[in-house]
Amino acid sequence: MRTLNIIHLGPGRVGKTFLDQLTTNKVKIEKQYNIRLKILAVFDSKSNDITVKERITAAPLPLVFIDTTASDKTTTAIGKALRKGGFVVMSNKKPLASNQKTFDSLFRYRNKLFFETTVGAGLPIINTIRELIESGDEILEIQGCFSGTLGYIFSLLQKGRKFSQAVFEAKEKGFTEPDPRDDLSGLDVARKALILARLIDSKISLEDIKITPLFPQKLSNLSVNDFMKKITLLDKKYNKMMNRSKKNKKTLRFVAKVNKRSCSVGLTEADLESDVGQLDGPDNIAVIKTKNYSKNPLVIKGPGAGPQVTAGGIFGDLLRVIKIVSL
Ligand SMILES: NC(=O)c1ccc[n+]([C@@H]2O[C@H](COP(=O)([O-])OP(=O)(O)OC[C@H]3O[C@@H](n4cnc5c(N)ncnc54)[C@H](OP(=O)(O)O)[C@@H]3O)[C@@H](O)[C@H]2O)c1
Repeated sequence: MRTLNIIHLGPGRVGKTFLDQLTTNKVKIEKQYNIRLKILAVFDSKSNDITVKERITAAPLPLVFIDTTASDKTTTAIGKALRKGGFVVMSNKKPLASNQKTFDSLFRYRNKLFFETTVGAGLPIINTIRELIESGDEILEIQGCFSGTLGYIFSLLQKGRKFSQAVFEAKEKGFTEPDPRDDLSGLDVARKALILARLIDSKISLEDIKITPLFPQKLSNLSVNDFMKKITLLDKKYNKMMNRSKKNKKTLRFVAKVNKRSCSVGLTEADLESDVGQLDGPDNIAVIKTKNYSKNPLVIKGPGAGPQVTAGGIFGDLLRVIKIVSL
């Protein structure tokens, strides 16, 4: 019986939930695939980088390195695991959204690199696009909403809530990052758009994507508390925009649009009847137009955040690795 060795970085909200799911399903999977799953090490942010790299070097193959951190410092460890012939599963976007050279250095091991949950959490967006490309279809455009937080805020705005109230409610429900400006800046959506763009072979960098934050520069250096007090300053602007959209049978959505020539993210007016316009609450959506799905695009929609669904997506990627290893 083969043993698949596992090294895991980042036992946070998603990482811990993944480890719970693994514990629950381990015996069943081991039996089904005639494989042993062995967790060699779990490292958090207090672990020493050198120890992590040494553990990867010493680990026997087959190995899967799982990165569920939100760190931009894991690229070297990921590269090390891939170069020695291991697999990598990651929910961390940052290594794939850094410069083109780094992306290329990782993506040349594409058959061993799985990152479904970097866009749309557990929704099958990345693997669907990869399979479409591998099977000879051509991706013409991907359009979508990839921020549960911004989806929730603009759905509330559509229902008549003030912008500031919507941000407060999203924060209270735990949908936003501790500092809501991390969501409102659009940077997280831009990273996701960049990963999608690179998947369809667009050679672009984060700096090439024009991002217009949803708050003005003068609010960017305030403490979180002061920012939350001043956010009422934005009510007039966004409520006016939403009311104008509604009059034209449209609504406001924070949309990423990616094709081979361009990549943009920002607040957009969407027809109320469209797939994007019908999106409600924190759900995500990807509308994928390809050569084969051109008149009627492929639509993937559902919860795009949360530890359970994200850990489920990581588990799905791990199963892909298990299927390859147990062949
Ligand atoms: N939450 C979601 O719904 C969701 C959805 C899709 C994708 N993701 C992505 O999944 C990742 C994890 O999200 P999360 O919500 O679980 O975040 P989180 O709760 O903040 O967990 C991050 C974990 O990574 C650890 N960590 C940070 N830097 C590290 C380093 N250099 N080496 C080793 N461990 C390190 C942290 O350790 P300490 O506890 O010691 O700081 C923590 O255990 C992020 O990249 C996020 O963008 C999350």
